[in-house]
Amino acid sequence: MTDLAERGAARVTWIRSRMPLLRDIRNEFAERRPFAGRRIGMSLHLEPKTAVLLEALQAGGAEVVATGNHGSTQDDVVACLREQGMTLFGRRDDDLDQHAGNVARVLDAEPDILLDNGADLAAGAIERGLPVIGGTEETTSGGDRLRRDLPTPAFPIIVINDSLLKAIGENRHAVGQSVVESFMRVTNLMVPGRRFVVAGYGWCGRGIAQYLRALGGKVAVAEIDELKAFEAALDGYRVDTLENLAGWGDTFITATGAPNVISLPVIERMTDGAVLANAGHFPWEIDTAALYAAGETTEVTDGIERVDLPNGRHVVLLTGGRMLNLAGREPKGNSLESMDLGFLLQTLSLERVATRAAELAPGAQPVPDDLEREIARRMLRAMGAHR
Ligand code: NAI
Repeated sequence: MTDLAERGAARVTWIRSRMPLLRDIRNEFAERRPFAGRRIGMSLHLEPKTAVLLEALQAGGAEVVATGNHGSTQDDVVACLREQGMTLFGRRDDDLDQHAGNVARVLDAEPDILLDNGADLAAGAIERGLPVIGGTEETTSGGDRLRRDLPTPAFPIIVINDSLLKAIGENRHAVGQSVVESFMRVTNLMVPGRRFVVAGYGWCGRGIAQYLRALGGKVAVAEIDELKAFEAALDGYRVDTLENLAGWGDTFITATGAPNVISLPVIERMTDGAVLANAGHFPWEIDTAALYAAGETTEVTDGIERVDLPNGRHVVLLTGGRMLNLAGREPKGNSLESMDLGFLLQTLSLERVATRAAELAPGAQPVPDDLEREIARRMLRAMGAHR
């Protein structure tokens, strides 16, 4: 084993030991072999927790062909999984074109089942007319894309993010915790007393706002949906438009899934030294293209850029506008327990696709209710909680 693969293996071993739900399902899959003879094509952040997910699928008989998502691939984990016979494409430093090439190579392998994140694989499979039997989609943004932008595929895609269980366990509580942890790790700045603006009060935004406030941050929310804005107001946050909050906040975190939420005119109204970060899936929530074009950029350190604006002020951009909790220095991603839960949803949904695809309607759909409840029971048992 190479040094790189050994480093990856050591990290995967530790993570595996903290993911009891996946360990159990891996053992069950080794007996049931639901994926025997199937090739699963994956596009998902390649980090140690994903490695444990892939091991469970492989134990269930799947041949795995995978790529990471742009900017979050951990090279030591890739090296370790290659040693286990999986076909993996992509490196941490890949640019967007190289990433697109990696996605294409996964599709070239003609997978039977897709495990997608952002609907890149589904889009390619639809365009190429691949004989896919079904798949899963991890994110809100991918689910939106499947429903709004892409033609309905001939095969079912279970959207993991439509799961209430995942929304509570991961989007809210785990993203909340990990975004705050990442802000502190990347910047080493203080949270207590700091003025944060959270754009989007959906599942992720609620958690980010909650954990920032828990550490003493002063939090305001910008939200375009009146019901969620109302909820934020009743939860005790200042609620206002980004234009009005631009001069108040000293740190801005987006979690909307929408493009150009923080536009250049908003950035130009910010105070000197304002910090910008994104937690949403796509690196487009902050208009970084306009920002880079308008100002002079200096890379301060890994994950921190200073952009001096013509108005004499500067802003600090974290992780180039990519997901704060998955990019930057030594990214940890979401908590192990939350990913254990999220990946159990993945594995059981993939098993449903592999064994009962004909019972599922074509196109995007939520996790079947019986699976949600089964996983909630397993999670409660693992936590020692009773009902
Ligand atoms: P959600 O749909 O629950 O919330 C998004 C909220 O943003 C909605 O309330 C919407 O009204 C609001 N919004 C949309 N445009 C806006 C604008 N211009 N200004 C202010 N608010 C706006 O979605 P969720 O689950 O919170 O996900 C948000 C993003 O985070 C997605 O891109 C998702 O893929 C991503 N995500 C990131 C994770 C991570 O680990 N960093 C994990 C899970 C999801």
